[in-house]
Amino acid sequence: MEPYMDYHGLPLPSIAHSQDSLKYFENFQVKDDDVFAITYPKSGTTWMQEILPLILNGGDLTPVKTIPNWDRVPWLEETRAAQVMDNLSSPRLMVSHMPYNLMPASFFSSKAKVIYVARNPKDVMVSSYFFHQMASFLDDPGTFDEFMDKFLAGQVLFGKWTEHVKSWKEADLGDRILHITYDEMVQDLKGAVKRFSDFLGCEMSEETLQKVASHCSFNSMKTNSMSNYSMVPQEVMDTNKSAFLRKGISGDWKNHFTPEQESKFSTAIMKELGGSHIKFPWDAEPL
Ligand code: A3P
Repeated sequence: MEPYMDYHGLPLPSIAHSQDSLKYFENFQVKDDDVFAITYPKSGTTWMQEILPLILNGGDLTPVKTIPNWDRVPWLEETRAAQVMDNLSSPRLMVSHMPYNLMPASFFSSKAKVIYVARNPKDVMVSSYFFHQMASFLDDPGTFDEFMDKFLAGQVLFGKWTEHVKSWKEADLGDRILHITYDEMVQDLKGAVKRFSDFLGCEMSEETLQKVASHCSFNSMKTNSMSNYSMVPQEVMDTNKSAFLRKGISGDWKNHFTPEQESKFSTAIMKELGGSHIKFPWDAEPL
């Protein structure tokens, strides 16, 4: 099996996508009360699959401790979606790595809500580099330099980071969309949970907020077998090479980029975001 399949020019991992799953995605009937967490890969998808059910159910830990993340909050474009969708009660929670323009037709006429999580692309690249080393279903990433070239050229899962964030940042969704960054979530998880709950219209007591933030901390999630991918066989995800929940920090790129790599990476990203008036918290960082 080829590791990737092409979908409108985007490389998608063949292990989790098929012509059928993409047809299912395209024809999916989005409901007005559906909630999507949308991410470019390695930007906090698994984290959102933990946080959102707890917000909607008032902090009941049962689902996050008994249902694997991929069935609890499925990827709409993946092969599992068709099998598990009927098990979801409304409001349905889903994740997707799709850019805005490729969302199913019914999404655009619905009132479904979206939380878009963006992450510093330098950290996304580092996280993805280690993920490629541990995931046997992906290409060997090569050297860090080689992988950077692929990342900047968009020859990686779901294409270019810049195209993905631009598509969602420029999406005309009014109050249907909440933008947040992984980096803000790292800085103040309880504050982020509160923003999500306000956005979704779920009232949470201070005690429940605290409980959810504490359960969704990196160290706590690392021990949750329903979310840390430890159920996946070693031949598929080799945790001797890297853990799925690897470091969970903001700014790990500083441990991996040389000044030359940093300059090349920033220049390429800034050039592509240049005309789009998109600003992120990490833009203020000194180079
Ligand atoms: P690192 O590789 O930098 O550690 P995704 O789920 O989109 O594939 O993203 C995976 C990244 O999110 C990994 O980043 C993982 O550790 C991080 N992550 C998952 N849960 C987290 C949490 N509770 N706190 C902080 N980071 C988390």
